[in-house]
Amino acid sequence: MKNVFAFSAIIASAAAQYFGVMSSRSASPVHLLPLTARGGKFYLGGGPPSSYCPPTVGDACPVGNSTVLAGGEGSLSLGVMVPGGQRVYIAPDGTMSYTAPHSAYIPEGSIVDGWNKTEGDTFGYLTFEDGLVGCPAGEGEGYQVYGQVPNVTLCSDCLGFSALTFNATGPGAWEY
Ligand SMILES: *[C@@H]1O[C@H](CO)[C@@H](O)[C@H](O)[C@H]1NC(C)=O
Ligand SMILES: *[C@@H]1O[C@H](CO)[C@@H](O)[C@H](O)[C@H]1NC(C)=O
Ligand SMILES: *[C@@H]1O[C@H](CO)[C@@H](O)[C@H](O)[C@H]1NC(C)=O
Ligand SMILES: *[C@@H]1O[C@H](CO)[C@@H](O)[C@H](O)[C@H]1NC(C)=O
Repeated sequence: MKNVFAFSAIIASAAAQYFGVMSSRSASPVHLLPLTARGGKFYLGGGPPSSYCPPTVGDACPVGNSTVLAGGEGSLSLGVMVPGGQRVYIAPDGTMSYTAPHSAYIPEGSIVDGWNKTEGDTFGYLTFEDGLVGCPAGEGEGYQVYGQVPNVTLCSDCLGFSALTFNATGPGAWEY
């Protein structure tokens, strides 16, 4: 069983480029925080990702303590092993969001493209059309990530940031 999963992971990594994201905005509270998938939304910092490993898969699951993305040429996904994957989108309320495992459901009016990942010398950059913003998410929750979209007005203590990317070797979790 273990070999079957290891084999499918090799196939997947040949097709996708996996990476993690770190925020950058010098001299601000959102400098160098990990982009973290938690409960269907994204945060900067505020604790570990929500990840799950089915008992039937067991030790063939990635560790699941960091958030790995894949794609970034137009569309963006999470770096996961769950069949069907998990897509990233900007919901109509501006929140950076991702699909639940085993579901393709994305709310009407969401934006599924507009992502662009470029390479740099020591790290790359991930951009979303008009930019990404982090807004205080409450005690211990870090900053919630929003895409800047028309018709969504974010509060004044939100901070724009650059998304630095660093290469990962494979999926970060079975599912987030
Ligand atoms: C995740 O867990 C591994 C193994 O326990 C550890 O080496 C690594 O530093 C952890 N990563 C993070 C981001 O906590
Ligand atoms: C992505 O960014 C690069 C560098 O800024 C640019 O040359 C390229 O056209 C962009 N691609 C898309 C799809 O926007
Ligand atoms: C990350 O991976 C891409 C694609 O394989 C590669 O072009 C780039 O040089 C790598 N970046 C670093 C810093 O290793
Ligand atoms: C923004 O609001 C205007 C006026 O209500 C509406 O016509 C437009 O379709 C909205 N745009 C988006 C992207 O929701």
